[in-house]
Parts: sequence; C-alpha cells; structure tokens
Amino acid sequence: MSTLFSPITVRGVTFPNRVVVSPLCMYSADDGMAQPWHFAHLSTFARGKAGLVFAEATAVEPEGRITPRCLGIWSDAHAKAIRPITDFIKSMGCVPGIQLAHAGRKASTAPPFQGATPLAPDHADGWQVVGPSAEPVGPGVQVPHEMTTDEIKKMTGKFVAAARRSIDAGFDVIELHGAHGYLMHSFLSPISNQRDDEYGGDLEGRMRFPLEVSAAVRKEVGEDMPLFFRISAVDGVEGGWSMDDSVALAKALGEHGIDVVDCSSGGVSGAPRFRIDDAGKPLSKSSARKPGFQVPYAERIAKETNLKSMAVGVIIDAVQAEEIASSGQADFVALGREIMHNPFWPLHAAETLGDDPDFKMWPDQYGWAVDRRSQIVAMNKG
Ligand SMILES: Cc1cc2nc3c(=O)[nH]c(=O)nc-3n(C[C@H](O)[C@H](O)[C@H](O)COP(=O)(O)O)c2cc1C
Repeated sequence: MSTLFSPITVRGVTFPNRVVVSPLCMYSADDGMAQPWHFAHLSTFARGKAGLVFAEATAVEPEGRITPRCLGIWSDAHAKAIRPITDFIKSMGCVPGIQLAHAGRKASTAPPFQGATPLAPDHADGWQVVGPSAEPVGPGVQVPHEMTTDEIKKMTGKFVAAARRSIDAGFDVIELHGAHGYLMHSFLSPISNQRDDEYGGDLEGRMRFPLEVSAAVRKEVGEDMPLFFRISAVDGVEGGWSMDDSVALAKALGEHGIDVVDCSSGGVSGAPRFRIDDAGKPLSKSSARKPGFQVPYAERIAKETNLKSMAVGVIIDAVQAEEIASSGQADFVALGREIMHNPFWPLHAAETLGDDPDFKMWPDQYGWAVDRRSQIVAMNKG
C-alpha cells in the first residue's frame, strides 16, 4: 500500500487516505445558502474517494464573503442546508471538512467568471469591507474600515458560532482560512497590518487575532476534532510575511489547538488571484507556477514543528503525490484544479500506484462494472 492511500488519524478522526479536495469557491450560493450545485460538486469528489473533502471558503458573516455568491454559515438555516452534503460524503467513507473564512478587505467583489471586479459599498451587490488598517488591497479597491478592538473580539465570536454550526452541519474537520490576503492573513502580514495596538506591530501582535480565533474555536469544538489552518507561507512581496514567520506562527498555532498547517502562498496585495481579463483569459500569476511549487513550505513546517502539514499547488500526478507523502514532505496532499479536471483522480491514482487492482475502492455501484471494463480493455489489447 502506498503512503498516499494509507489511512491517517488526527485526534478522533481517521482519514481513509491522504488525498484532500482543496477548498474551492463555487460562487453559486444564494444568500450564502448551499444549492444543488454544491451537492453535485462535493458529492462527486466523495464518489471519487478523496480522503478529505473540503467545502469552499464559507463566510462567518455576510460581509465576510468574497463575492455575493459565496457560501456562508452565519445562521442555523445555512448549516441545515449543508447537512445532506456532509451525510453523503460520509456515506462514501470520506471525511467532510469546511473552511471557515472572512474575506476582510478582499470581500465585496464580483465572481471571477464575471471579472472579479471590486464592488464599492454603494454598489447594489457590494458592502463596506473591513481590515486591520485602512489600507486597500490595491488601486481601485475600496478602503477598508479599520476594525476596533471590540470588533476584533466580536469577530472571534463569529468564528466560534460558525464552528458550532459546522458541527451541526455534520463536518468532522474545520480549516481556518488564514491565507490569500483575507482577514486573518491581513492581520498577520506587515503589508496590510499597520496597527500600533495589541493586534499589530511586532509578530506577536500581528499573530494575536488568528491565535485567539484558533484557541476559541478549539475550545468550542472539543478535543476530538482535527483543526487545520491555511497559511500563505510567504507573501512574495518585499517587506512582507516570510517563511521564518510561518514557522513561528505554526509553532504558536500548535499551542493554540491547531493540528495541521495547510501551506499556500501569496494574495496579500495586488489583483485577486483568479482574475480574468475581458476576453476570459486568466490574469493570475498562478497559471505560470511549476508543479509542487509550494511543497517546500509544507516540508519546512513538517520538519521544524511537531504539527502535521498539507501541501497544495499544481500537484498533478499520482507518483508526484505519493513522493510528497512518502518522503514526509507533507502528511496531506491537496488538489484543486487537477481534481476539478478529474474528480475521480483519487481512484485513478490508486490504480496507478497499484493500490486498487480489483477496483474495490470504487463505490459499489460502479466498481463491479469498472472491473469488467478493465478486463475488456485488457482482452482487446492482447
Ligand atoms: C475555482 C477556485 C476556487 C478556490 N477557492 C478557494 C477557497 O475557497 N479557499 C482557499 O483557501 N483557496 C481556494 N482556492 C485555491 C485552491 O484551494 C488551491 O490552493 C489552489 O488552486 C492551488 O491548487 P491547484 O494548483 O491544485 O489548483 C481556489 C482555487 C480555485 C481554482
């Protein structure tokens, strides 16, 4: 059995394998509520047998959405609407996870397939964005309202309430979104956080809000639930957040109840990551990234802390993913665009790695027929 397809246990949850569906915004919610699209989208990955299926960045309050079409969990009705999805994921033997998020100063934009244009507070679909400081993310983007200390503490409470509802919605894992320039990352990075109170200044001050959220969520969910935290390991901007900062943060996160550090990068300034031009071509630099470009970040976290790590970013084939897992560079291997391209990627990867010669990993409804298919393919080759 490959390492990739060996089970792994974190706290009270055993994952059937280490393949993870990275959180993927679908921009398809209605007032934050999950729709049939979300069921179709996430249940497909469960049929594909990813060990952990993350729901997209899910906002803890309406103003925390990236776009007016993003998923939310700011009411019990939102949690109830998601429940059939988590039930189905579990029925496939997979683990459902949710990424809790607040988009901060990068909120209030149009969906990427509508141009990702920033929406001003007076736009019919827009709202006032918030952040650690009154520093906009880039030219042409609205200036955030600088959060007061009272508002920061209340925001922690919103993450806690969202964590409680995530349990009610049936999720077994929570990831806190501390990356891509959104609210928690904007507190961490000196580029976006220019406060001089206890929530800004030195590293300790800038880490305070994300650490308070982590500790409060851990307290709410109890000791059995694995907690992931997604970081932007580096800002990639001069004077920005560095990998050394990430190692220090990871150690502190471990002391505040986090188990797994999910290593992404970037997003603190400039254009939104997945912006398209008028002709529909991506403007994002991410399209030029090399396979596994963020794996070294996950590897440093795995080697220099006692936390588990997750690698993500242009992880494409089974052998590459197995090398990451078996060499200890990361405990979990997450896929985004690749698994959208092939939602049955885990089943195909298990076949490639020789872990599922008889198609037993497939859902019963498909496995027997896919087995016959493979016999027919083999006969016709001969
Ligand atoms: C359509 C789309 C939506 C995404 N939504 C989220 C999200 O909700 N939260 C998040 O942390 N990252 C999000 N990302 C980033 C992915 O989770 C992933 O980190 C990134 O795509 C790199 O992995 P990949 O090369 O396998 O796609 C999104 C990416 C794409 C393409």
